[in-house]
Amino acid sequence: MTRHWLGLPIATLACSLAIAGADASRTDWNAAYPEKTAVLGLHGDAGRGAEAFVICQGCHRVGALGRADGSYPRLAGQHASVLIKQLTDVRTGRRSNPKMLPFADHQVISIQEIADIAAYLQALPVPATQGQGAGNDLARGARLYRADCAVCHGAHGEGDADKFYPRVSGQHFKYLLRENQLIRDNKRRNANPEMIGAIKNYTDADIAAVADFMSRLPVEMVKQVP
Ligand code: HEC
Ligand code: HEC
Repeated sequence: MTRHWLGLPIATLACSLAIAGADASRTDWNAAYPEKTAVLGLHGDAGRGAEAFVICQGCHRVGALGRADGSYPRLAGQHASVLIKQLTDVRTGRRSNPKMLPFADHQVISIQEIADIAAYLQALPVPATQGQGAGNDLARGARLYRADCAVCHGAHGEGDADKFYPRVSGQHFKYLLRENQLIRDNKRRNANPEMIGAIKNYTDADIAAVADFMSRLPVEMVKQVP
């Protein structure tokens, strides 16, 4: 698989600096720091990634399907760029995940293994078995998602690999719900500030409705990366 990451960090850095200039108190959500840039420049080997992923399976489950109770997200089918950013953000203290860190820290997983695991996970199939919400407020969820979220996460929840926007279709409702709350309450420190702006006035009912709608986006609308 050939990836064209070259040139991206520079464009991203310029963009991040502009945002940081507008509000210096915010975390630079997509800073081009050395570890992330290094992993993005590596070629990932999915076969070796499957072996390296064994240490992750106790929580994220076989096939990286996660848990419907939302405790562990599904990683299968997520964009490699997103997986790499999130993992290196956790390792460098940009996103809090004290539970996972001992299993994913520098002494345990090398940067080549991160690239390998990301290549493996990105190509995994995503069955439509994800946890969903109660289904009683979907019209509101659809309206909010289309107005405020689809511009980045995509009409079908497919995200955007080049921009580090996560795929959200096929993800468990309870995980989406928790992340929506963390993002709104400014506790996911590596979150995109435009997104925080979009969600900051949401009520708890809005948060739940949009998470439910997202959890029902059809997984087959997302093209699997070979
Ligand atoms: C002890 C349990 C545990 C282990 C082991 C674990 N994780 Fe996680 N991981 C979590 C939890 C919990 C979260 C969600 C944190 C949150 O809610 O913000 C997570 C989130 C993630 C995310 C972010 C997903 C997203 O959609 O943003 C990635 C990527 C990830 N893990 C990769 C891995 C990899 C790769 C390994 C193995 C090297 C691993 N994890 C091992 C518990 C674990
Ligand atoms: C400007 C683009 C943008 C917009 C608009 C946006 N997002 Fe996001 N979203 C992102 C990015 C980038 C991330 C990953 C953030 C990070 O690196 O921590 C993300 C992550 C998420 C996650 C966590 C996914 C995961 O796998 O952990 C959820 C849930 C989410 N967004 C929900 C929403 C909702 C709900 C809306 C609309 C109210 C929204 N987003 C609007 C860019 C956006």
